[in-house]
Amino acid sequence: MVRDTWATRTGFILAAVGSAVGLGNIWRFPFLTGESGGAVFVVVYLALVALIGLPVMLVEFVIGRRSERNPVGAFRRLGHPSWKFAGAIGALAGFIILSYYSVVGGWVLQYIVASFSGGYTGDTGAFFVQTASGTNAIIYHAIFMALVAGIVSLGVRDGLERAAKLMVPSVIVLLVILAVYAATLPDTGPGYEFYLSPNVDTFASDAVNILPAAAGQAFFTLSLGMGVMITYSSYLGEDRNLLNDSLIIVAIDTFIAILAGLVTFPFLASQGQDLVQDGGGAGAVFISLAAAFETMPAGHLVGGVFFIMLAVAALTSAFSILEMVVSYVVDTFDIARVPATLALAAIIFVIGLPTAMDLNYLDAYDKFANNILLIAGGLVLSLFIGWVFASDALEELGQGRGGNGGFDTYWINVVRYVVPIALLVTLALAIQEYVEFLQTTFF
Ligand code: TRP
Repeated sequence: MVRDTWATRTGFILAAVGSAVGLGNIWRFPFLTGESGGAVFVVVYLALVALIGLPVMLVEFVIGRRSERNPVGAFRRLGHPSWKFAGAIGALAGFIILSYYSVVGGWVLQYIVASFSGGYTGDTGAFFVQTASGTNAIIYHAIFMALVAGIVSLGVRDGLERAAKLMVPSVIVLLVILAVYAATLPDTGPGYEFYLSPNVDTFASDAVNILPAAAGQAFFTLSLGMGVMITYSSYLGEDRNLLNDSLIIVAIDTFIAILAGLVTFPFLASQGQDLVQDGGGAGAVFISLAAAFETMPAGHLVGGVFFIMLAVAALTSAFSILEMVVSYVVDTFDIARVPATLALAAIIFVIGLPTAMDLNYLDAYDKFANNILLIAGGLVLSLFIGWVFASDALEELGQGRGGNGGFDTYWINVVRYVVPIALLVTLALAIQEYVEFLQTTFF
């Protein structure tokens, strides 16, 4: 059987960018930056994206293109079936992440409605609290999940590629407009300072929290650690230059996150909100944007368009997660695709219910899946490539137009030594921090 490959040259990049760009950039990045000390967090995050994120993305690409399989089949095909537990870690992470991703996606849907109906006028903080609790949060969680399940069961990959093609430039244009508008407002100084001027003391006193948060965010925003990028690159032709493609994906994804911060923090400051208290919550971006749309010219229209684009970005990301979980279950248990999709979507909806009712649960799911499971997944994949499969991996990376100069040697050394050590350290910190978090939050 001849396997499908991406129909167009850009199809793969569009799909990968569609997966990477999502709530992680626009909701989670500003939220964590606020919670983790501002600019210091941004610096650590950028360093980890370059030092760990890019090499791990290439690890996934190499496994995917070499095996032409999703994570379940990949390790068998490569002759190392015992490593397939990496796929199980990824599938578990996907279950948990999608369950609350859909809840946040539901918030976005509510903000679309509110933009056009004038719903968030007045106290936008109170409006966020109302959005994120009560039956409406559950109903919109169900609607978002149904949309994702619908897209996956129809198998409309082309439609999704087209959506990503429109979504990414629109999101960038809208964020630039908002960032410029933010710069014209009064009293934004503390916002820029908090976001852009790193304070070394903050890092010294809080490295235990900042490191795992930044590593988890690097994995989350780039869709790493779960095998999504293995699956996407399994349809990739040998002529593509993997380094080139990964640089494009990482650059676009990082640019959008940085822009989101340039919108959120000046807005929060200008609105007189406490950056750490108000800005450090899951509502940061929603509260500040809604208040900004209240005052800016044609604000509700801009807001409506913005939240629609954000919903599309969230859907293309959520699609990649559900697809991954569905292929894992279909391949492992030999069930038909459509019933598997519907059943899994229903289960994931139920798992997400606590996070629709209480933000502490959302935090608990989020920290566990990202700071622990994704990092563990990335660790296993990197150990496999660095220590078991290195020479084939180097050969695979070298395929494709142009060649990579001296990068390949640098890459394999980073994957062997730097990535495992860094991920082990952050994993240990993350577990320690998680236990403390559970104790202070729930007991
Ligand atoms: N990267 C997406 C975002 O930033 C979320 C996402 C999609 C994801 N697929 C993933 C996260 C796979 C981890 C693993 O919104």
